[in-house]
Amino acid sequence: MKVAFIALVSFAAVFAAPAVPDVLVPAVEPPKNPAVLPVIDCSTCDFGPYGRVQYLADPLNCNCFYQCQRLTEIDGSFTYIPHHQCCAPSLFWRQSWLTCVTDMFKVTENCIVQLPADVNTPEPATTPERICALGIVPGKPGFFLNEGIEQTCGTNMVFDFDLCTCIPGTDSDLICDSDVLLYYPFDEDLDDHSCTRATSTQTSEASVVLTSDVDRGTVAKFNGASSLHVGYIYNYFADRYVKQWSMAVWVKRTGNTAGLGGVINNGDCVEAPSFDIHVGGGDVTSCSVDTDSVSAMVAIQDVAITANVWEHVAMVYDGKDITMYRNASSVAHLAVQGNIENRQCPMNIGAQHAGSDYFEGLMDDIYIYERALSLDEITKLSKL
Ligand SMILES: *[C@@H]1O[C@H](CO)[C@@H](O)[C@H](O)[C@H]1NC(C)=O
Repeated sequence: MKVAFIALVSFAAVFAAPAVPDVLVPAVEPPKNPAVLPVIDCSTCDFGPYGRVQYLADPLNCNCFYQCQRLTEIDGSFTYIPHHQCCAPSLFWRQSWLTCVTDMFKVTENCIVQLPADVNTPEPATTPERICALGIVPGKPGFFLNEGIEQTCGTNMVFDFDLCTCIPGTDSDLICDSDVLLYYPFDEDLDDHSCTRATSTQTSEASVVLTSDVDRGTVAKFNGASSLHVGYIYNYFADRYVKQWSMAVWVKRTGNTAGLGGVINNGDCVEAPSFDIHVGGGDVTSCSVDTDSVSAMVAIQDVAITANVWEHVAMVYDGKDITMYRNASSVAHLAVQGNIENRQCPMNIGAQHAGSDYFEGLMDDIYIYERALSLDEITKLSKL
């Protein structure tokens, strides 16, 4: 009680203080007609070379944001269409995470917190019919319309208007293992075959392709200029407390043994990736995680990966240690703790960043888990 009282007094004191004219910040005229005032400028977004959609906060409402659509005109110039959208009630847009967050994570310095208009409105006697803000795309069951923008549901998924979301397609033989977060068998396609069904896209004109290998059957081939981009990981760690992470992959490095080659990571941004396996110059392989309590990337170095030989590489982060396994033998570990940092980066397979430090060689059977695998489990994966 006492604490609450003191807090109230100091709150009142702040507001009772005489108004001092602020000479540094000129007073802003209230907008005459806020409805037509252009409050945001989508051309200020960093779309990158190929980007079509970006997001900006709505300064007039902390619950809302703008989806900025960039269109390329025939002459190569760009036009921008802002689509106003709002988070679900009681959630707030957080620009630095590009997602809607709960009250605990909100940042409201640069926007106005709008009180819910219906706070005192009594519950309606009948439940109003749910309205789906998304639309169907005629003839394309795997797509939906979001504010006029056609978006994909992902492999084997279809849009269900009644449920207003994407669901597994009825004719897809969806036998999946929900224990694994992402799984790339590289047998029929380059897609994730876990229940997540994350879509992967090529990052450059040179494509990652499937090829036949004498030892491992059908595998993915990276030619040193190609990689896959998995957007599902983009904001994966936001609002989550991920203290365990495991990755396993079969790799065979066939070229560019002098340079750095990204195997699996989400390095695409300014800081260290949340998780990373890469082959370095010469016979070096590193694994790392970046957490909220370790500001620097922790890496395991000096592990030889033989060129032109299949090697099974795995890393396990269990909240206490990061351990690297080669052919299911622990080869190095470091003490690390904390929650894995969110980096707003897609996952790269075969590049250290989208568009640079490409891996040249083959990969097979990538497994990613949001839990710590045991040595037994790593051994099983290395036998597949
Ligand atoms: C790892 O396993 C592969 C396939 O069995 C083998 O060719 C390679 O030599 C092994 N590497 C080591 C360091 O044992």
